Amino acid sequence: MNKCPETTDNVEEVVLNVIRPTRRQLTILSSFFRHVKRTYEACLNRLGLKGEVTVQGSYAKGTILSDKWEIDIFIILEGVDKEWIKREGEAFLRECASRHLPYTIRYSEHPYITVSMMGLEADIVPVARPEPSRLEGLGVERTPLHTEYVRSKMDRELADQARLLKSFLRGVGVYGAEVRTRGFSGYLAELLTITYGSFRDVLRAASGWRPGVYIDPEGVGDEKVLRRRYRDSVMIVVDPVDPKRNTAAAVSVQSLATFVAAAKLYLEHPHTWFFHACQPSRPPLPGLDMYRLNVDCRGPLYNHPPDAVWGKALRALESLTNRLRRTGFKIAHHTVATDEYHTLTFSIILEECGLSSMEVVQGPYAWSPTERLTKFVLKRLSEGGGAWISIDRMIGSRPRRFKDAAEAARHWLASEESASLHDLGVSCRVVCEKCGHGECNPTPAWIASLLRGRGR
Ligand code: UTP
Ligand code: MN
Ligand code: MN
Repeated sequence: MNKCPETTDNVEEVVLNVIRPTRRQLTILSSFFRHVKRTYEACLNRLGLKGEVTVQGSYAKGTILSDKWEIDIFIILEGVDKEWIKREGEAFLRECASRHLPYTIRYSEHPYITVSMMGLEADIVPVARPEPSRLEGLGVERTPLHTEYVRSKMDRELADQARLLKSFLRGVGVYGAEVRTRGFSGYLAELLTITYGSFRDVLRAASGWRPGVYIDPEGVGDEKVLRRRYRDSVMIVVDPVDPKRNTAAAVSVQSLATFVAAAKLYLEHPHTWFFHACQPSRPPLPGLDMYRLNVDCRGPLYNHPPDAVWGKALRALESLTNRLRRTGFKIAHHTVATDEYHTLTFSIILEECGLSSMEVVQGPYAWSPTERLTKFVLKRLSEGGGAWISIDRMIGSRPRRFKDAAEAARHWLASEESASLHDLGVSCRVVCEKCGHGECNPTPAWIASLLRGRGR
């Protein structure tokens, strides 16, 4: 839904008016919190457990967005440890919610439930109160410390700046640390806002970033140790409440690149289309005269946590595109979409669904040893192709293994290379066809907005 006037003046003011929550929204969320809190407090009593039901996340930090009807509730338990939470956490959550709160449970590492009522959602996470003497290796126990830190550093104005950054990150598709996105978490957006002082200043800093960025907001980290520990990270942001941890560990090179490019373009050509609440349903662009290969899969995805589904799906996508590239297809764009329950679709835009039946192979230079030349010639001729000289080297042709993208994809589906898909228990159909009218243009709205920028 696009509630924003399309403008290039006062963009941030316009956007803020759309993304700032209303008083009514905050009132509704707070009574929802009280409702869940009462239910869980009564249950703690009944079970003879001691604990505090607290509100965390963006609602507690004052950085929630207007379309987010979600609160994060942490139950900080006394006298239990991590092992207890792992063992008993799920049963505890179920026991307390049952009959009072409609919930779903789906987790990979730490147990939690999502209560969903009348369009409102609450993530409820039980944690052990960390011993002050042993803060090492904290997991989710860090969250209350994050809330405290952000609250101590942010006033209303800075919270608005964090909202702008979160909305921008969502708008360009890199908000969230889940496997699906491998991008910037809410806490990371807040930390960056605190560090640089405003939304614009974060973008200015980001336009100079490249892989290997190292940011230490409170100067508490050991750069050498962190760089070694997070060798595979393209970005390190030291967590002020846990200096051994990289808050940006989830950020992939594609998320970093997207954010850096978006920051550069936005600073030159500000536009509301960079922000999630202001995007057109489809940017007004011509379709591309290309082809699309779709692999539609179905199966019991609900048996797996979403991060596992996305992890396997993304690995499969990479393997499929590698196979197609090796076969000779030119790929313009590839994505995977899933509802995380039943369906999973790979969509690959390419120049052609079909190729010629012969492919060109490069051979040795004429000045190479004789046996390399003869070997090349004999191989090509025996395959039914040919060999000749082109400028300074041999060139040849050989029959292509797959001249059909759909056929190559089907072969891939039947091979070991697609194992990560089969782990999910899905079965798939393959279609390759010409893009319909107005289809297949992967340009996102924020890039398309340049056409509408100043002086055009
Ligand atoms: P959120 O993802 O809800 O982020 O996690 P947020 O800061 O509230 O931002 P928005 O506005 O919702 O997008 C809130 C906190 O809860 C922790 C996260 O790590 C984060 O610190 N959390 C959430 C967990 O540790 N485990 C969970 O299962 C869910
Ligand atoms: Mn939240
Ligand atoms: Mn949440």
